[in-house]
Amino acid sequence: MSDFYNKDIISIKDYTRDQFEDIFQYTEKLMKLDSAARREICKGKTLSYLFYEPSTRTRLSFESAMALIGGNSLGISDISSSSTQKGESLADTVKIMSIYSDVLVLRHPLDGSSRFASEISSKPVINAGSGTEEHPTQAIQDLFTIKKEKKKIDGLKIGIIGDLKYGRTVYSLLSGLGNYDVEVHLISPESLKIRPDSIYEIRKKLSFTESIDIEEYIEDLDVVYVTRIQKERFPDEEEYLKVKGSYLIGLDLLKKMKEDSIILHPLPRLDEISTDIDKTKHAKYFQQAEYGKYTRAALLGLTLNENGF
Ligand code: CP
Repeated sequence: MSDFYNKDIISIKDYTRDQFEDIFQYTEKLMKLDSAARREICKGKTLSYLFYEPSTRTRLSFESAMALIGGNSLGISDISSSSTQKGESLADTVKIMSIYSDVLVLRHPLDGSSRFASEISSKPVINAGSGTEEHPTQAIQDLFTIKKEKKKIDGLKIGIIGDLKYGRTVYSLLSGLGNYDVEVHLISPESLKIRPDSIYEIRKKLSFTESIDIEEYIEDLDVVYVTRIQKERFPDEEEYLKVKGSYLIGLDLLKKMKEDSIILHPLPRLDEISTDIDKTKHAKYFQQAEYGKYTRAALLGLTLNENGF
């Protein structure tokens, strides 16, 4: 039986390196299959989604992934149009959604929300972003992108830049990278440094430097992973304004980077990567978003088929 069959996807910490490699192989397989064969993978299955926070890529890539593999999707993307407005609890909403579907994708502003939902749901729950804590399918997509674009993960020098305090993709990515032999450099404004309490476990598997100077390591980096400053999570707008626009990846900085370095971003971007970068060979963030559709299709195929596909 597949390791992933009927299992929740809550935290990247629950996965081993071998399991990542399995997911990558299934993703590669899925990308090579013809469309008729793909549509057999989840034929007749239904995905439901429940998004308490805005999303473009995660929700639509799950929907698009499910269509790609022959399934269908239903859900709530605007919580104000659901019975939550009448006071229905998260627990009851999850219970109902799991009756109507085979797998439930949840995004919620609270840490622990997906774990909680998984205890209530009769169907597997996939965490599509929980508070500032985790975004596991984004990390799988990010690792797959690094491997696909750089042909390896071990041995790479990876810079993670921006809002390391509130950006949940960073915590999932660091946990995932802890399974590989990589050199990591964290670059953020002083007030947005990584949360020490949230990386206690990660530190056991991964060593990294911390800096506020984007130029300190830029010449050495193979992967430049940029994140948005998460305005919506600041308790005080004044604090946001102090760090807004702290870093800009523009053509001047690009000249200092390695010839074969790649730039990733989970998106959405605001002003942290100049649009001039988009047409350069270094820009891989839109490709990364496309890989997200295939990695999510592979995860759905593995979650919903006892013996994989
Ligand atoms: N990367 C990501 O989670 O994007 P969305 O917020 O648009 O889903």
